[in-house]
Amino acid sequence: MEKLRAIPQRAPVRSMLVGALAALALAGPAVAQDKPKAEVMHWWTSGGEAAAVKVFADQYTKAGGIWVDSAVAGGQAARSAAINRIVGGNPPTASQFNTGKQFDDLVSQGLLNTVDQVAEEGKWKSFLPPSFIEAASREGHMYAVPVNVHGQNWAFYSKEVLDKSGVTAVPTNWDDFFVALDKIKAAGFTPLAQGGEPWQERLLFNVVLQSVSKDTFMRLYAKNDATAIDTPEFKKSVEIFGKLRAYTDAGSPGRNWNDTTALLITNKAGVQFMGDWAKGEFKAANKEAGKDFYCQIGIDDKELVIGGDVFVFPKTTDAAQVKAQNLLASTMLSPETQVLFNIQKGSMPVRTDVDASKFDLCAQKGMKLLADPAHQTPVIDMLASADLVGALEDVITNFWNNKSQTPDEFTAKFADALKSAQ
Ligand code: GAL
Repeated sequence: MEKLRAIPQRAPVRSMLVGALAALALAGPAVAQDKPKAEVMHWWTSGGEAAAVKVFADQYTKAGGIWVDSAVAGGQAARSAAINRIVGGNPPTASQFNTGKQFDDLVSQGLLNTVDQVAEEGKWKSFLPPSFIEAASREGHMYAVPVNVHGQNWAFYSKEVLDKSGVTAVPTNWDDFFVALDKIKAAGFTPLAQGGEPWQERLLFNVVLQSVSKDTFMRLYAKNDATAIDTPEFKKSVEIFGKLRAYTDAGSPGRNWNDTTALLITNKAGVQFMGDWAKGEFKAANKEAGKDFYCQIGIDDKELVIGGDVFVFPKTTDAAQVKAQNLLASTMLSPETQVLFNIQKGSMPVRTDVDASKFDLCAQKGMKLLADPAHQTPVIDMLASADLVGALEDVITNFWNNKSQTPDEFTAKFADALKSAQ
């Protein structure tokens, strides 16, 4: 065993150092305890999403907070985990939901703090779109911090696959779209990159439905109007959706959205309909819009289906937690964070007053439609209850995965699901 060495005569310096270290150690935790500490639950686990949530974490740290990351893969799983924690009395500081009705029950059970005060102090009404303030508000109080605007009806095309398939232009109607799919198939590529989860199949169905008829989309989801089902527009949408089933690959069932986007990034598939969070994956792979991939809004660049993400703050009377919540809200909505986070996330800033010049051509295209209410449709989550969305997803995924089911059988089941939620 090594012989302990005598402490050199510079003991006074050493003892000062030891004393200083001891004081720091004592103060250290106290200093840490003074910092607002936020446990944040979310489902951002893909490469692009993780890079984006790191922006939030870094900005929060820079603002003097301590970010404790609680990621749960998958939106449905994350929301269920958060609700269980909140209802169970062991809530995180904040938790992600989609902009819309998913956290209605938490509000009605009095389980969320409002963000009225920080919204007032931050003058949110001067820069948030009224529709996003409304989507976060219940009975005159704001219960969520909107953090972005995601378009949910983007089409992403691999430039290389289109070029190699002889598709010379991005199609702008469904007839030309199927001609392009046939060319891509003939060239040996996967035509439609589709992830095999109910929410992804529901997203695709709603892209088709909204493109065929915004009116039918709104009658069904905003008004629960079952008579909209017995219309030529709904019938045409189901036919298009049913036809798309033949253009996916064997790996589609069960595949998550970001592994599906990877098929485009590696030029194995032609096109994916997905929210613009997929852009975060292209960015993480250093792929450039217009050079490596094309982005189209819906089928014809005319109408943006807009949604997004919010964070809610579980009710707490712990002053330190309320301080941590307020710092989260103000950090997430700061102009600097809004630019840095949304560029990484692939979404558009929810603040209408930030410098948009640093965003890519896809986001610039989206922001033009975002500025014009006549060219926007709210996502289903902003219009229909989580229960109805779930019931419709069950019907849609059953039709998508059961090639023998006819459009008429699907239509009857869709009508039953809509009526069950009335
Ligand atoms: C959406 C969410 C996006 C992205 C996507 C896929 O609901 O708004 O931010 O996370 O899920 O996970």
